[in-house]
Amino acid sequence: MLAPVSIAGVAKCVPERIVTNFDLESLVETSDEWIAKRTGIRTRRVVAEETGVGMACRAAREALEMSGTAAKDVGIVVACTITGEDLTPSMASSIQKTLGIPACAALDVSAGCTGFIYALVTAASLMDTLQMDVALVVASEVMTKYLDWSDRSTCVLFGDGAGALVLRRSETAHVSFPILSATADVDEVITLKKEARSTPFTGPVEAVSSIIKMKGADVFTYAVGVLERTLLQLSEACTDRPYTKIVPHQANEKIIDFVARSMGISREQFFVDISNYANTSSASIPIALCDAWESGWLNAGDRVALVGFGSGLTSGGVVIDWTIPNKV
Ligand code: ACO
Repeated sequence: MLAPVSIAGVAKCVPERIVTNFDLESLVETSDEWIAKRTGIRTRRVVAEETGVGMACRAAREALEMSGTAAKDVGIVVACTITGEDLTPSMASSIQKTLGIPACAALDVSAGCTGFIYALVTAASLMDTLQMDVALVVASEVMTKYLDWSDRSTCVLFGDGAGALVLRRSETAHVSFPILSATADVDEVITLKKEARSTPFTGPVEAVSSIIKMKGADVFTYAVGVLERTLLQLSEACTDRPYTKIVPHQANEKIIDFVARSMGISREQFFVDISNYANTSSASIPIALCDAWESGWLNAGDRVALVGFGSGLTSGGVVIDWTIPNKV
């Protein structure tokens, strides 16, 4: 069961460096026109000095500050990433250390690009189980370190960044109707393998390089199917009041256009910022939420469906009732 919570703070942190589609023309045989037409992407942020943990901590700090919460009051940190710098400690533990949270539960969730939905649901569930009042949910990804920069079919699609939310226990539930799902990726349509090492006991192992491999057309078909299904399930769950806005995982604008058309949902109901950031995997939904609020698209009183899909193959959705008033 989810604890009754509201979203009390939201923030993002993206690298300084902007890499345009035109910049990529000098790396691989591609064009701004091809990338923009097929994906909606124009630019992406790429780390130089920044790190995954560093971006996570900046976003987390800002979200806490905005919510008026002291670090010492955080009871749970749930982080999600598929590109964490360390196998251990977890990203959540590194965030705890950097922020100076004296004692809390800290864990990472890995669910590909659906990671943020899984992390949000995990955090709200643990708030109920552990009877905690505040949770920090953070996604941070450095996708660009796991790309083959000579492969035009993948290197143009991804970017780096982080986003964070603060959840606070409230009188009524503002995060509801969780859906978490996964189907086996039998055809290996999205993989990022870990480099293997032999030991005295294994003999030689097959050399594997840690780069993202993807069967684009298969991912497209999968994404459209689960987006439609999840949105429908969320609609059916919202019997008291329908959601009117949708913040989907930002993988490809064409996926969103397709689903808007096939489900007869107005395109304006979807928030899309992929043109600025490309696909930042699990960080895309909190970054989009932050931009949606900062730009005035998202307002207090809005009911919003968050939907994700990703490697695994995972998918998920949840409905949020936004309560934070606009800045302006
Ligand atoms: N620039 C120019 N040409 C390119 C590029 C590029 N960057 N990439 C591929 N091409 C070429 C291909 O080589 C191919 O050429 P050929 O016909 O001579 O062989 C041609 O363009 C068409 O390639 P397709 O792969 O068929 O192109 P498609 O129209 O399917 O678009 C794309 C590819 C954009 C990857 C699309 O399949 C897609 O968006 N799929 C979903 C992928 C996705 O969202 N991934 C996100 C990661 S996982 C996740 O977030 C869940």
